[in-house]
Amino acid sequence: MSWREERELPMILSAALTTHCNFFRREPHHTVMQLMEVPLRPEMFDFHGVSMTNIITDNWDNVQNFKARPDDILISTYPKAGTTWVSYILDLLYFENMDPDRQTSIPLHERVPFLEICVPPLPSGTDLADKLPTTPRLIKTHLPVQFVPKSFWEQCCRVVYMARNAKDNVVSYFHFNRMNSALPEPGDWSTFLQDFMEGKRVYGSWYDHVNGWWEKKQTYSDFHYMFYEDLIEDYEKEIDRLCSFLGLSPSAEEKERIRASVTFDSMKQNKMTNYTTARKLNHEVSPFMRKGKVGDWKNHFTVAQNEQFDEDYKKKMKNPDLKFRCEIQRAG
Ligand code: PPS
Repeated sequence: MSWREERELPMILSAALTTHCNFFRREPHHTVMQLMEVPLRPEMFDFHGVSMTNIITDNWDNVQNFKARPDDILISTYPKAGTTWVSYILDLLYFENMDPDRQTSIPLHERVPFLEICVPPLPSGTDLADKLPTTPRLIKTHLPVQFVPKSFWEQCCRVVYMARNAKDNVVSYFHFNRMNSALPEPGDWSTFLQDFMEGKRVYGSWYDHVNGWWEKKQTYSDFHYMFYEDLIEDYEKEIDRLCSFLGLSPSAEEKERIRASVTFDSMKQNKMTNYTTARKLNHEVSPFMRKGKVGDWKNHFTVAQNEQFDEDYKKKMKNPDLKFRCEIQRAG
């Protein structure tokens, strides 16, 4: 490498990396070769006992001080549990008839802001939520229950929590980490699976997440806990339960229209719901709308991994009332 290249490369690299990826952190002591090796992925760190990255914690004060309103609806999930699906269902239940352009011009992630996300120069989740013109405001979060801003509880906001069985959840999360450069490197499948079991992926332990929110449901009445598998297996029944919780009574025609819009295939084709407008996601590595099934874990887990996972699961999931299904009759 010439002297000139040696001198200019850090600046060129730094500019290119900073432009390409907002999560790149250049330290003054990095040499040229280190800079060339720095991954375009953010680092994960322990944040009050939960694995996080800076795009979640950078706006922490604003998140914690967020002013929820009594009619806000919080949609909460561990990542990859069906957040987008349930968000779109709620969006259509409330706003399908509001403005035809809305459905074709505003991506779902702007209609249902992601509370804790902060990726400058894009508006933060709290900014988007503050500016939402709708009533109710639908707000998405992946936060473990102990991190939810207290105003949601003080204002008695309704909460819809969607959970998905751990095996399909980890598979979906693995592929999402592969295609999303805003997340840390996933490593190979067996490494990722081990990390997941140890609570060492972004948002921490799946086990703590589903259990923590389940416990909240025991003491907080404005709460609806749903399962991805139930929604796949018996969509009508689950929508009726959801509508009853929300106090909505859509007509048969509305329900049928919504059902057609929220099928996996419709959402995969729909640019407003398939995340093809999101810059950090590489759908060629793995599409956001990937399979949408119960039981895909069988294509990933080895027999040994499955046995180890089940053994570990028994130790962590002691509450007999919180039951997940890794298989259903009609597998999607
Ligand atoms: S995120 O990034 O956390 O918001 O992702 P999230 O939306 O929670 O989860 C994505 C997974 O949900 C599947 N999905 C669906 N399944 C069935 N029907 C519909 N309509 C649907 N919409 C989204 C999506 O395909 C991801 O699961 P996998 O298993 O990866 O396919």
